Amino acid sequence: MINLGVLISGRGSNLQAIIDACEKGEIPAKVAVVISDNPEAYGLTRAKKHKIATRLFEKNKFEDKNTYELEIVKTLEEHKVDLVCLAGYMRIVGPALLSSYQGKMMNIHPALLPSFPGLNVQKAALNYGVKVSGATVHFVDDDCDTGPIIAQAAVPVLENDTEETLSARILEQEHKIYPQAIKLFAQGRLKIEGRRVKIK
Ligand code: GAR
Repeated sequence: MINLGVLISGRGSNLQAIIDACEKGEIPAKVAVVISDNPEAYGLTRAKKHKIATRLFEKNKFEDKNTYELEIVKTLEEHKVDLVCLAGYMRIVGPALLSSYQGKMMNIHPALLPSFPGLNVQKAALNYGVKVSGATVHFVDDDCDTGPIIAQAAVPVLENDTEETLSARILEQEHKIYPQAIKLFAQGRLKIEGRRVKIK
């Protein structure tokens, strides 16, 4: 059984999918702490409903990003976190946080990376006119949405899609592949070899 630390900024539907998978015993893991940078994040309410420890760290209340991230590291260590899951955490991770959890930090992204990194990517995919988009779970490295890919799921982009309908179709897949990726990590089955993640 491994301990997860989940970082969020908002709604927390991926957090919910992870909590549910843990509680159903589908993955040998437990959410030890949920950390938010946003006091309004609904994910905090979700965590509290499941009696999971929550912490709020508002970046603008810290001297700089380094100090902010060191507080997060301290909290993750206090909760003996083995794997950090970014789940709608809308910040680029800096060296203070990354250096403590290199190879032990995952992110979920609502596009088929390396296409459409960054923000508002469902809209970007629609505007570009791609016929297929999807979701990606990847290890976090020192750039934005560039780390080694663990899992991906594709969805069709339909003629009459809006940003909302495409986002919903992608989100459904996110909720499946994120718990699956965490399960593989918890089972010790992921091995990073350069850019490739081998599944044992
Ligand atoms: C999800 O679609 C996630 O992939 C995306 O934010 C949403 C969070 O939803 N993350 C990013 O865009 C990160 N760059 P949730 O709070 O309901 O899980």
